Amino acid sequence: MLKPFRSIRWRLVAIYLLIVLLAMGTLSVVITMLVEDSLIQERIEQQQAQVDRLALDASAYMYRADAEQLYRLAVEQAETLGGRVVLLSMGGIVQVDSASRLNGQAIGYSEVLDVIGMEKTNAYGFHRVTDVSAGGEKNWAVYYTARMTYRNSPVGVALLSVSIQDVMDKIHNLRVEIVIFLLAVCLAVGFISFIISEIIVKPILEMTRVIRNMAQGDFTRRIKIGRFGHSEISDMARAFNGMSEQLSNLEQSRNEFVANASHELKTPLSSMKIMIQTLLLQPADPEMTHEFLSDVDQEIDRLNNIINDLLSLAKADASHVENRLSRVNLKDLLQATLHNLEPLAQRKQIDMEMVLPEGELTLQSDPIRLQQAISNIIDNAIKYTPEQGSVRIEAAQQGARIVIWVQDTGYGISPEDQKHIFDRFYRVDKARSRATGGTGLGLAIVKQIITGLGGSIRVESQEGEGSTFTVELPIEP
Ligand SMILES: Nc1ncnc2c1ncn2[C@@H]1O[C@H](COP(=O)(O)OP(=O)(O)OP(=O)(O)O)[C@@H](O)[C@H]1O
Ligand SMILES: [Mg+2]
Repeated sequence: MLKPFRSIRWRLVAIYLLIVLLAMGTLSVVITMLVEDSLIQERIEQQQAQVDRLALDASAYMYRADAEQLYRLAVEQAETLGGRVVLLSMGGIVQVDSASRLNGQAIGYSEVLDVIGMEKTNAYGFHRVTDVSAGGEKNWAVYYTARMTYRNSPVGVALLSVSIQDVMDKIHNLRVEIVIFLLAVCLAVGFISFIISEIIVKPILEMTRVIRNMAQGDFTRRIKIGRFGHSEISDMARAFNGMSEQLSNLEQSRNEFVANASHELKTPLSSMKIMIQTLLLQPADPEMTHEFLSDVDQEIDRLNNIINDLLSLAKADASHVENRLSRVNLKDLLQATLHNLEPLAQRKQIDMEMVLPEGELTLQSDPIRLQQAISNIIDNAIKYTPEQGSVRIEAAQQGARIVIWVQDTGYGISPEDQKHIFDRFYRVDKARSRATGGTGLGLAIVKQIITGLGGSIRVESQEGEGSTFTVELPIEP
């Protein structure tokens, strides 16, 4: 059996998952980045503007060193902005702290130094700070600074430290949600693709099973098609079923052929054996000896004919027989054939008639094989027509084809038998054919020759009234 992860089914699932993960993954990364950006950016712009205002409001107090007003402003703003406000001198020393802890200390954050160093008028930066009120938890905060200017000269720096953890939490939650969503989508896609691949793979598995059975000689199995609708796979299943049908027919006809062939060969052999055994037991009677030996002679001829027929069929099966094409004068060919068979017809007082059109009737064909085929058909017409009947042969050109009809007033062939008379060893009436010396190979050979020459043969018949065999041949094969 297939290793599970090498099978088409798992590969399909993996491919679907990969595609979904790639597409959705990229999308989610882009979306979170955009959301993060807009959330943080919005917050920063808003708060920076507030710090700028604070710097403006505080500048006059700072210039006048009005500690009381500065402290009031710092506390009030710390409250409204939800953070901590620190006001520093241009030397970086804390003048006022809304939390009253850093007074007099120097602060060296880059945001402060940037503003003091006159590089920027305001600045902000992210810091991870330990939140004492939240039990020492590390949280994200933003430090904003803005320069205080009074009458065009710098008087100090306003610093606001405010937590941005809520935004960070939002972003974190968003990420978690997206990951959960992605996982759910992957699960769903995995499940759906598993079912889809099952639908695709199932007929293939079934086909494999049927092929395995076939390899073991069971040609009866067919793939059920209904479930797959009209897809490439159902077409394949149909084609496959057609092929197994053919194979099974072939197998059957091969078996029949072997059975029939051995039967046909055994019958003359056993009758010869009986005659020879009789002769061995009673060797004296010369009359009987002569009679038996001539019977044996006939049986040998019969065997010889069967074997020759079989050989010619087998040869044509094995290799594509080369037709020796030449310009054939059909009128001459038909007349010669008729002449050869005349004695047979005369013996049964069968009237033979030939109807040919005016003018030439020629075609490009293999004269020897063509004559063999036509001779077989006419031979049948004579054989399977009772005494005093008639056989009529007609030929005509129809467009690019020549049509030959062989019509008799014989026993006729039932519709069921008509389907099989071109099969090897098929004889309608075994007893009658045996009496006439037939083996059922004649029409098989005829069909092989005619199709080999690019033509076709068919039969129409009414039981008890007669049969018409129609041969159509291309003038130029
Ligand atoms: N013109 C016909 N009228 C009635 N039955 C026919 C006619 N031609 C063929 N058949 C039937 O078809 C069977 C097959 O014919 P086919 O020529 O293949 O074999 P055969 O004549 O029995 O033997 P073979 O031709 O090999 O000596 C015959 O046994 C006969 O029953
Ligand atoms: Mg025959």
